[in-house]
Amino acid sequence: MASTTAKTYHFVVVSNRLPVDRAPDGSWVRSPGGLVTALEPVMRSADGAWVGWPGQPDLEVEPFENDGIHIIPVPLSEYDIANFYEGFSNDTLWPLYHDVIAPPGFHRDWWENYVLVNQRFADAAAAVAAENAVVWVQDYQLQLVPRMLREARPDLTIGFFNHIPFPPYGIYSQLPWRVQIIEGLLGADVIGFQRVADAGNFLRAVRRLTNHATKNPAIEVATDGQPVRRVIARAFPISIDAASFEELAREPRIQERAREIREGLGNPKTIMLGVDRLDYTKGIGHRLKAFGELLAEGRVDVEDVTLVQVANPSRERVAAYMQLRDEIELTVGRINGDFGTMSHQAVSYHHHGYPRDEMVALYLAADVLLVTALRDGMNLVAKEYVASRFDDDGVLVLSEFTGASDELKRALLINPHDIDGMKDAMVQAIEMAPKERATRMRALRRRVLENDVARWSGNFLQTLEQARQGRYDRIAPMHLPDELEWTVDRRWSN
Ligand code: G6P
Repeated sequence: MASTTAKTYHFVVVSNRLPVDRAPDGSWVRSPGGLVTALEPVMRSADGAWVGWPGQPDLEVEPFENDGIHIIPVPLSEYDIANFYEGFSNDTLWPLYHDVIAPPGFHRDWWENYVLVNQRFADAAAAVAAENAVVWVQDYQLQLVPRMLREARPDLTIGFFNHIPFPPYGIYSQLPWRVQIIEGLLGADVIGFQRVADAGNFLRAVRRLTNHATKNPAIEVATDGQPVRRVIARAFPISIDAASFEELAREPRIQERAREIREGLGNPKTIMLGVDRLDYTKGIGHRLKAFGELLAEGRVDVEDVTLVQVANPSRERVAAYMQLRDEIELTVGRINGDFGTMSHQAVSYHHHGYPRDEMVALYLAADVLLVTALRDGMNLVAKEYVASRFDDDGVLVLSEFTGASDELKRALLINPHDIDGMKDAMVQAIEMAPKERATRMRALRRRVLENDVARWSGNFLQTLEQARQGRYDRIAPMHLPDELEWTVDRRWSN
């Protein structure tokens, strides 16, 4: 039970990264990544605590308050960073869950450290959670935490949300610790995924690897000597704080900045934009290849079209990321060397992040946004672009391998492996008539503005509350594709 002396909270979020990072001067700044953007507004409105890593090795800090959020830091040592974070989380799970685009490494010492660090997060959450509190665990770095928490604190209501894809069984089953991860997740009352397909993959893995009965969207978890528990697994597509992007975009100073950006680039007819963490899942190389070919073939003129690529530095000590950076920067250099003129660069490449103001100005300046991910849980950049375009202009080119493509059907949907198809879509986007741009953007905007992050967290937390009350009749099943329907239901008892 929670200690009677320490302050406890009725709502606790647990994620690998805290919503703040320590800057070199000791101040705390917002950390990068979609997760923070998504959860910050929710945390502010509830008097909640956030348990997570402060982003640097061996940084021991007492709990503190930042901008209305109670921060409970969990330290990671150099060893934990190398094994739990860079190793098991980002060199085993990340590539495995993203369709093995890069080969995952399976190392027993990485796994052992993953278990240890998950236990540390679970202990920290258990210590600050009030009696009967709601604890919401985030993402693939912490998949064992739900079960560890339930064992320590059966009074808690536990949610888990997976921000990245959950892979098909044929891929998932490569993981030597596949059963432990499933059982770890099943400690939660509600497990959320981005897409219906991810939840279907999870239900199928449960069916193949355990004896628990499954019936969309529930799993009956039978543990020796304990009453059967129900766990809900379903899709809750995440979103952004859409109104705040629109509000910024409407500010005259941001629009002025957008004009400056265009001017700085030599006022090309078309600016195409890519914004990604520098990650091999994002298809940046595929995008550059397509653009380079369009220039080489003369279908696009460097005087008319500029590609701005913002590549946020990420996981820079993981070998696959170092190699990717070299490849991308070599390609950018080649394209610019081959096609650039004294007055126009083909690719304007930026290996750093920008504050939100500058990003929104870039979104307004960009005629086309290119999202060409090979696999992506959601892709919030696509939604940020749409939310910012209050002028109903701009074209979204969107990979069908993103979670966002389930919702943003009026984008130009592409298969990034099909370079010719991607080139045609880029040309179509460049040439699209203003009327069609407006019709498509209006439809996209309706979707993003309605289904914002408040609705996402509201839906998830409502389902969690229904599960807590045992009101399973209120939780609708998902519409699964036919092929999944029969594989996920079995041995259901009622
Ligand atoms: C993705 C993950 C997040 C992660 C973010 C940044 O969005 O789903 O959990 O925080 O990438 O990656 P990093 O490794 O820097 O935390």
